[in-house]
Amino acid sequence: MSSSKDLHDNRRNYTKHELTEKKISPNPYEQFGWWLEDATNDGILEPNAMTLSTATKDGKPSSRIVLLKAFSQEGFIFYTNYHSRKGKEISENNSAALLFFWDKLERQVRLEGTIEKVEAHLSEKYFASRPFESKLSAIVSEQSEEIPSREFLEDKLEALKESGETNRPENWGGYILKTNYFEFWQGRASRLHDRIVYELENGAWKIKRLAP
Ligand SMILES: Cc1cc2nc3c(=O)[nH]c(=O)nc-3n(C[C@H](O)[C@H](O)[C@H](O)COP(=O)(O)O)c2cc1C
Repeated sequence: MSSSKDLHDNRRNYTKHELTEKKISPNPYEQFGWWLEDATNDGILEPNAMTLSTATKDGKPSSRIVLLKAFSQEGFIFYTNYHSRKGKEISENNSAALLFFWDKLERQVRLEGTIEKVEAHLSEKYFASRPFESKLSAIVSEQSEEIPSREFLEDKLEALKESGETNRPENWGGYILKTNYFEFWQGRASRLHDRIVYELENGAWKIKRLAP
């Protein structure tokens, strides 16, 4: 069996929508809200799933999917373990990027900025709203640490269930990306795509178009 696979013929033409300066919002958060709503209405399975890219202080990057749990003009919020690999990277380098890809809409959104922990009361509120089993999983999982087996985790879970403890671990909580750069990408026919960027300059959003 050959170990390489040729994907040259995996080619789709994007013709569903267009993105024009006339129709976009002057506010990138509003524009994002419209597109997230389209993705939700279009039946995309997890429209709030996004790729989070972080990097070490030396700039070695890593990416993973997390779920967007809230957004406002303040930024984009997700929840995780502060001791995880991403948490450690954020603690030494708070520059980060988020990426959404909504295939059915032929759309991509790129966000860039700096990350901060959210206030503890927000993490507390969100943790309290999670299903019982999800709380337990968050408590037993020392996310990103090596473990000896799946059984190890399941045994820990059983022991925790018996103890009845469901308090939020202090190292579990939210982060917010304070966004200074948005790019909205709309696939167009024959690779002549639309790319609209919003960049924060002296407190105001400057809008420009990029070549595809
Ligand atoms: C659809 C999907 C949603 C996920 N949502 C989250 C999330 O909200 N928070 C989280 O910590 N990990 C989430 N994960 C798991 C992460 O991708 C990753 O495995 C984990 O956070 C550990 O990453 P790290 O070792 O780079 O810190 C999700 C994975 C998938 C595929």
